[in-house]
Amino acid sequence: MTITTCIFDAYGTLFDVAAAAREAAADPGRADFARHWPQIAELWRQKQLQYTWLRAITGAHTDFWQVTRDGLDWALEARGLDGDAALRERLLQLYWELSAYPEVPQMLAALKQRGFNTAILSNGSPDMLMGAVASAGIAPWLDDVLSVEDVGVFKPADAVYALVTERFSCARDQVLFVSSNGWDAAGASGFGFVTAWVNRAGEPVDRLPWKPAHVLSDLTAIPDLAGV
Ligand code: LAC
Repeated sequence: MTITTCIFDAYGTLFDVAAAAREAAADPGRADFARHWPQIAELWRQKQLQYTWLRAITGAHTDFWQVTRDGLDWALEARGLDGDAALRERLLQLYWELSAYPEVPQMLAALKQRGFNTAILSNGSPDMLMGAVASAGIAPWLDDVLSVEDVGVFKPADAVYALVTERFSCARDQVLFVSSNGWDAAGASGFGFVTAWVNRAGEPVDRLPWKPAHVLSDLTAIPDLAGV
């Protein structure tokens, strides 16, 4: 089946989630945080994602902004920085204006030029996603921004991936789904999408029943991959 529709995960795939901690670490007067920021960024992300899975499994949904704050609070306390309210506020504010990876605008523009449908499908709440899309300046090349808030459960629930086939009236195997999260690419493969896992860190493939169809080191090859 020919690919008609290219769908992107947001956080970690189009937007660099480590950018918030990296930028805050460069602020004057944050020497303590500057020493620990990579570990805090990693703990923050790990906890944020764990909370999405646990809330999905138990039916205790809340929005992604809440699990983002909860994950950060856990990470700051784990590193003894939970008393720094100004740091917490700064990190949360930066999460609304994360940088996109440098190849993103050109890659999306090439997809639109070739006539593909393009959209984000993310755990993010609509307002967070709108903030990130606006600050990255990529709205002109996206047909839609789809949020799990429309179904009230986080990835990798099938109901989330089904938002795409409903929105674009397409078959599952007409969708190229792109994610830097191995578990998200796996879930989307299980749903029946053609998947590309963007493995920037050179990690092993997740031991799950579903494998990504393609493994890439960044997003530059996506337009050619979609057009094959
Ligand atoms: C998202 C998370 C999984 O954007 O990165 O859905």
